[in-house]
Amino acid sequence: MHRIRGSFAPAVLLLGALAAHSAWAGSARPWLNPKRSPDERAALAVRAMTQREKLRLVFGYFGSVMPGTTYQPPRAVRMGSAGYVPGVPRLGIPPQWESDAGLGVATQRASSDVFRQRTSLPSGLATAASWNPRLAERGGAMIGAEARASGFNVLLGPGADLVREVRGGRDFEYVSEDPLLTGVIAGAEIRGIQSQHVIAVLKHFAMNDQETGRTVYDAQIGRAAARESDLLGFELAIERGHPGALMCAYNRTRGHYNCQNSWLLHHVLDGDWGFRGYVMSDWGAAHSTVRSALAGLDQDSASTVFDHTPYYGPALARAVKDGRVPERVLDEMDLRILRSMFAVGVVDHPIQRKAHINFTADKAVAEADEEQGIVLLKNAGAILPLSSTVHRIAVIGGYADRGVIDGGGSSTVFPVGGSAVRGLGPKNFPGPEVYLPSAPLGAMMGEAPQARFRYASGRNLAHALQVAKWADRVVVFETQWAAESIDVPLHLRRQNRLVAAVARANPHTVVVIESGGPVLMPWLGQVAGVLETWFPGTGGGTSIARVLFGAVDPSGHLPVTFPASVAELAFPHLPGAGLPLGKPFKVDYRRQGAAVGYRWYLLKHLKPLFPFGFGLSYTRFAYQGLQAALRHGRLVVHFTVRNVGHRVGAAVPQVYVAPVKGSVPRRLAGWRKVRLAPGASRTLTVSVDPRLLARYDTQDHRWVRAAGTYQLWLGDSAEHLVQSVRIRLPAWQHSARWPVHYRSAAVPLSAH
Ligand code: BGC
Repeated sequence: MHRIRGSFAPAVLLLGALAAHSAWAGSARPWLNPKRSPDERAALAVRAMTQREKLRLVFGYFGSVMPGTTYQPPRAVRMGSAGYVPGVPRLGIPPQWESDAGLGVATQRASSDVFRQRTSLPSGLATAASWNPRLAERGGAMIGAEARASGFNVLLGPGADLVREVRGGRDFEYVSEDPLLTGVIAGAEIRGIQSQHVIAVLKHFAMNDQETGRTVYDAQIGRAAARESDLLGFELAIERGHPGALMCAYNRTRGHYNCQNSWLLHHVLDGDWGFRGYVMSDWGAAHSTVRSALAGLDQDSASTVFDHTPYYGPALARAVKDGRVPERVLDEMDLRILRSMFAVGVVDHPIQRKAHINFTADKAVAEADEEQGIVLLKNAGAILPLSSTVHRIAVIGGYADRGVIDGGGSSTVFPVGGSAVRGLGPKNFPGPEVYLPSAPLGAMMGEAPQARFRYASGRNLAHALQVAKWADRVVVFETQWAAESIDVPLHLRRQNRLVAAVARANPHTVVVIESGGPVLMPWLGQVAGVLETWFPGTGGGTSIARVLFGAVDPSGHLPVTFPASVAELAFPHLPGAGLPLGKPFKVDYRRQGAAVGYRWYLLKHLKPLFPFGFGLSYTRFAYQGLQAALRHGRLVVHFTVRNVGHRVGAAVPQVYVAPVKGSVPRRLAGWRKVRLAPGASRTLTVSVDPRLLARYDTQDHRWVRAAGTYQLWLGDSAEHLVQSVRIRLPAWQHSARWPVHYRSAAVPLSAH
């Protein structure tokens, strides 16, 4: 007898007993009994399915027309969406209606006659910059509810690739450069989405860290380094969020395409992490039938449009028929898909079309997220918050009179009322460049009714300088559009020249940056204030104004290091840039290993422009009393934070850790976000996940923490550390191997 993938073996073996004993035994459809476990229900349903039905659930369609092709989507799709997988009506199994993405309900541009107008969260980096998992969960619940109200039960997000490449065009969809912050925030967003009975799809697994050559590059990385960096982010997100599905990415890792990479899908995801959900391919990321099926690809997405040739469907039917893919492997694909549909509530809570969306309430969720995600980077002479005694305010550039910029590509959310600025960016994918209609200028006027405002677009330099000279204070906006499929330069040349000229004309200048990620600031020494606002999301103009005028204290901290120059990056030359389109190349992450972001700067003794974790406030905090102890085998850290300023504000004390011996750079071990009134203090506790002090042993497949002395630091960034303590810890090891699976016989680990 074949062995099946371990995590589902008990469910299948239970089948005989179940059918006999259940109160639903007489029922024609016992899998619809919500009292049974998702495993039992999935097993019962698969048993009732014909092979045709089994093949149907693993084969996805594109949810839109595709210009330039004759493709006609099935009638039941939600037109203008990412995907659709038919259900099995005979068995009461609904279709899977799939929509992008992690920031809100998107519309595929390929079908231009349909535009859903929905609420957009600020970018993933903004949510991460709040360091507040509760906000991430609320945001997830908001977009999950909008997805459901729009007819979708699968949301293709969040993204959890680490920001290894600060020029990455999709960094705005991701969380951070640190695995712990990424895992905590993505895990919370998943919980929020799935609270609405919508399956969250964690993506893009894995090492999809740049857009240049994303379908052809091969990420070269040691197994231990991967486990301690990018994979750890996914591992923590899965543990905390239990996503129903995971999307394998376009690129290759260690020589093999991710969607047929048995090391990633089979050994790590299933074997070591015991992942119970299903794996779907990114659109066009599948490359084979048998190899993919045996490696752990459960569902081939939009295959008739995006695959070279559809790899599942008839091709998979043939492979099952002639035994190249054992029927039990097909069963397991269906088991996994159905288990998630039952576990998340997709079957028990059918979609009600045309449900009401409360856009005002949803905007408030996005605004709250952005308010805590805005990072105050510079505040010379306490120029911010702008005081009520300021009478003349100049606002320059960035379409600040109309709205705030949003990211491009499949995640583009079209706002209620349409884009505030039309005709920008590419006409086709990944365009257009969308501005959400929340004008910072109008919102600023609302915050300062006593002041006079003048606006200059910045296109006419002389006019901008005239307006700047007239004003008591100048707020100049820089915007950078970033999008899927393209990477972006760090240097905003034309806008940097504008900022420098404006600052020369009036030194009381504050720069507000709306960007997909870090940018260079050659004018930093000339301006008084800087706010990083990311892609600010629906209502973002209001959030910016509230921070500028002090209705909200800035409490965001950077989830990514801001470089001082391109030369200090691990890859000064963007890998693959300049190569002919489609030419395969390698990205050698062995250069960095697990030292991503701030850990690279520490390793190389480099000084960034702004470090990871950095963020100012309008008040000040003092940290003291750092203590570390081992409690029930777990490292626990205590410290006290006091608001020593004169305003209410929120602090983000951070704990970093490293072994005292050796050269392993410190890493984030935990943090707390706490709001304090002036003079108030709180004693806080952080419990440290032992994996953050451990190395991954690839020989024995386990986490190992050596006995020895470890140093802990307390600070408010990866560089600004105010206290440290040492503690001796005993050895610790952890191996979470799930039983050996059917598929490991097909693809031995040594092949990787
Ligand atoms: C993107 C995915 C997205 C899918 C469906 C792909 O191009 O990489 O993130 O979910 O399209 O739109």
